[in-house]
Amino acid sequence: MMARDSYAVEVEGVAKRFGPITALDKVTLRIPRGEVFGLLGPNGAGKTTLIRSLVGLVAPEAGTVTVLGQRMPQLDVLARVGYMTQQAALYPDLSAEENVRFFGAISGRVDGVREALELVDLWDRRTSVVATLSGGMRTRCSLACALVHKPELLLLDEPTVGVDPQLRIQLWDRFRQMAAAGTAILISSHVMDEAERCDRLGLIRFGRLLAEGTVGELKAKAGVERLEDAFLKLSEVSES
Ligand SMILES: Nc1ncnc2c1ncn2[C@@H]1O[C@H](COP(=O)(O)OP(=O)(O)OP(=O)(O)O)[C@@H](O)[C@H]1O
Ligand SMILES: [Mg+2]
Repeated sequence: MMARDSYAVEVEGVAKRFGPITALDKVTLRIPRGEVFGLLGPNGAGKTTLIRSLVGLVAPEAGTVTVLGQRMPQLDVLARVGYMTQQAALYPDLSAEENVRFFGAISGRVDGVREALELVDLWDRRTSVVATLSGGMRTRCSLACALVHKPELLLLDEPTVGVDPQLRIQLWDRFRQMAAAGTAILISSHVMDEAERCDRLGLIRFGRLLAEGTVGELKAKAGVERLEDAFLKLSEVSES
């Protein structure tokens, strides 16, 4: 058993309903510092809801959420968390650099602006107003905003949708470096080759965490070779 503070995220029996929809069904999950954890699941599975519960945007009906050792909701923890939402949340009339600087300033750190923009390959376009950037560039700008303050926990809700393959590889290298330096990263994705790069995966469906483990463990558990098949197999099992 690890010391409490080794976990960046501790979710204990979290439940959330929206009217008749069960978005989260008693989810329990722990993510140690320095781990890249992938959350995989179909549309409507509860991935975004789970991520939102970690930053206090969704109030669970049951269960507890602890982030970086603090019971949530807790505003001051958020300065140590980076959150990239599924829909790029940027100020369209500010430039790329102004957006990144603004998000850094909220957390009291503006020393990483250039590094963040370079990482997402937007330094040359830093003076462009966000409304004039391409879709993929906006996604990248949004990622820079989530990274700029060097968070201890990074929550990325489908961060590479619309990002070209070359930059995707570059971003993953950077995610791995950040994890090696102790940052915990929770990343939701539908892309299986990305999932293969995570230290551990959680498969979620109908708000339930169906299975959890390394890629190898999940394949072994399902008795299949490919991760896609493991996902399908493990989903079936839970329905019966
Ligand atoms: N604010 C809300 N009000 C009503 N229903 C909601 C709300 N937020 C989420 N839901 C519902 O909860 C379920 C889980 O949604 P969620 O956004 O967490 O899924 P997801 O796994 O992120 O899906 P996707 O892959 O499409 O992003 C869905 O049925 C969704 O319609
Ligand atoms: Mg989502």
